[in-house]
Amino acid sequence: MEAGNGKRILVCNVGGEFFAVDDRCTHEDSSLYLGCLKGDRIHCSLHGGEFSVKTGEALAEPAEVALQTYQVSIEDGRIFITL
Ligand code: FES
Repeated sequence: MEAGNGKRILVCNVGGEFFAVDDRCTHEDSSLYLGCLKGDRIHCSLHGGEFSVKTGEALAEPAEVALQTYQVSIEDGRIFITL
């Protein structure tokens, strides 16, 4: 999804719990939208870097820098993200 300021945010459903991170791999600025989510790990489709969508931590090279994470809350079935 795109935030009002043009920033793209990736919202992930991990077993019914929602997490939000920048939709931008910290390795080479690629969207993570086309990546593969397994558990809480998002796999970048470009070079295979991996991140935790819970903490943003870079888990596999070539990614080394963590993703920005955002607080998620759900009210009346709507997802709110604090930027
Ligand atoms: S752009 Fe994501 S690992 Fe290289």
